[in-house]
Amino acid sequence: MKNHDGMFSLKGKNVFVVGGLGLLGLAVSQAAAANGAKVVVLDVDNDKSKAVLKWAGKHKYRLYYEYFDAADLDACELSLKRLVKEYGPMHALVNASYPRSRDWARPLEKMTVAYLRENVDKHLNSYLWLGRCAALLMQKARVKGSIINFGSIYGVVANDLSVYEGTPMSGELTYCAIKGGVVNLTRYLASYFGKDGIRANCICPGGIFDRQNPRFVKNYERKTPLKRMGIPQDVAHAAVFLAGDASSYITGEVLMVDGGWTAV
Ligand SMILES: NC(=O)c1ccc[n+]([C@@H]2O[C@H](COP(=O)([O-])OP(=O)(O)OC[C@H]3O[C@@H](n4cnc5c(N)ncnc54)[C@H](O)[C@@H]3O)[C@@H](O)[C@H]2O)c1
Repeated sequence: MKNHDGMFSLKGKNVFVVGGLGLLGLAVSQAAAANGAKVVVLDVDNDKSKAVLKWAGKHKYRLYYEYFDAADLDACELSLKRLVKEYGPMHALVNASYPRSRDWARPLEKMTVAYLRENVDKHLNSYLWLGRCAALLMQKARVKGSIINFGSIYGVVANDLSVYEGTPMSGELTYCAIKGGVVNLTRYLASYFGKDGIRANCICPGGIFDRQNPRFVKNYERKTPLKRMGIPQDVAHAAVFLAGDASSYITGEVLMVDGGWTAV
């Protein structure tokens, strides 16, 4: 009989979470720490980090914070090298960041070329560059690491605009292109680094409840087979699974955490 004990534990693993203070990233950071990982939260929100470090201290979790601007592509490689030197080999990189322009979520008619370029550069290019740099570091250290990128249902299907009816909300064109790119660049990393035992997978969440317009929430829930929006923990548990040994034969996969949204 094989021993299955501890297969879902992250004990002994160093998990780096980019955007680890956000709605989803924070849940991932907390879930990874609670499952035994040493967690290095990489984010640009120094203020928010204080409360999170306090929470970790209270629970005696090994969770650390470092300022890290994922959109600063020129600094990325060196910064990651320094972080690995300080915290140890990278067993998992979770990218749950959401870099965007100040005027993010412009309607299609109000978009400009500058807006398009800024958001593709900050979001898609940073996911690609970070994934590349992290995988090369894992390869160099001979670590069979796991890269987990955050896509979206909108990297796989286009927005069903009917859920925004009767609300001031709307979908965003650039987001679909960016997330479609994130899904497929992750597959490339899986293909390229598979020979090194490095895995790359994408988590594609559906809409996560965040006190959105009640009409939107109602419309969204009606369309979703599980009849509710997601919560951050739904996504965090999927990330813990993909970071650990229980998923060791899973790579290049797109894990939909969407209550069935893309199944119908
Ligand atoms: N929330 C949802 O409903 C939802 C649904 C599908 C997919 N997603 C995806 O999940 C990921 C996380 O989304 P979220 O809702 O948690 O977003 P969020 O805005 O709550 O959090 C994003 C985090 O990224 C950090 N960040 C922003 N720019 C950064 C940079 N340049 N470098 C490092 N960190 C940076 C922010 O400080 C923040 O902590 C995103 O990729 C998003 O597209 C979210």
